[in-house]
Amino acid sequence: MLHISKVEQLRALRARWRSQNQQVAFVPTMGNLHSGHLKLVRRAKQMADIVIVSIYVNPMQFGAHEDLDAYPRTLEADMQALSELGVSAVFTPRTSEMYPRGLDMQTSVEVPALSSILCGASRPGHFKGVATVVTKLFNMVQPDVAVFGKKDYQQLQVIRNMVADLSMHIQIEGVDTEREANGLAKSSRNGYLTPQQREQAAVIYAQLRQCADAILKGERDFAQLAHSAEQAIQEAGLQPEYWQVRRQADLSPAQAEDAAAELVILAAAKLGTTRLIDNLEVAAD
Ligand code: PAJ
Repeated sequence: MLHISKVEQLRALRARWRSQNQQVAFVPTMGNLHSGHLKLVRRAKQMADIVIVSIYVNPMQFGAHEDLDAYPRTLEADMQALSELGVSAVFTPRTSEMYPRGLDMQTSVEVPALSSILCGASRPGHFKGVATVVTKLFNMVQPDVAVFGKKDYQQLQVIRNMVADLSMHIQIEGVDTEREANGLAKSSRNGYLTPQQREQAAVIYAQLRQCADAILKGERDFAQLAHSAEQAIQEAGLQPEYWQVRRQADLSPAQAEDAAAELVILAAAKLGTTRLIDNLEVAAD
């Protein structure tokens, strides 16, 4: 497995793979890899000859009071896991390599409507930071396919819309959320939780399932569904931030006439100081 940190090295490798007609799949991450990330890598391996993983904690997508400095960094263990999976190359740029002109660039990428709702409402600038760094990474890696998790559903839809709007020639693959045995979605931020909080946090997935089942049975009073889910979340000791039933494609509010299979339920809640997000596509399976 190659470990590269310079864009120039990456471009040379990319040129070689292109000349050999090798298909390249890309998995962007911020490291501290868990089985959710590794599931994306496995999917990437099925889709192309070459898999590149990036590990970069992107300052541009963190707010002033967010956990940029505290964000867990575990490069050695990450490299070990990726090498065991047969990844071709890991790209770990420094910020001076990623943003040679500084973070205050002239140019950025925004997907405004999708970025101002749900998580975007409480994290202004977050999705602009994500869309900009992902565009830069796409330009550096020039992948045929890029793999993202549905765990960050809004992020996935921001990327899908950006790729379509800007005619980027990249196939975007979404992978189902990997969960703990109790249903809690795997996340690097779960490391901030105590064992007891991890149990409490399982209420989110339990409520997502309950809400999806009710919609599948024909319930269309989305406000009532949100109210009872938020109540259950509060009773478990979490502070709900939002609970929304939305259309999958553009995350606009669900309408009573929508088919269940077009909908997704998205949730955010705080447990202590840790902010947790989760979602579930309403699919009859
Ligand atoms: P990060 O949080 O490290 O996540 C990297 C990828 O792993 C994302 O596509 C995310 O959706 C996916 N992922 C995280 N937890 C998952 C789980 N439990 N199941 C399935 N997939 C999961 O998302 C980012 O980094 C950054 O915003 C990034 C796209 C790298 C841009 O900086």
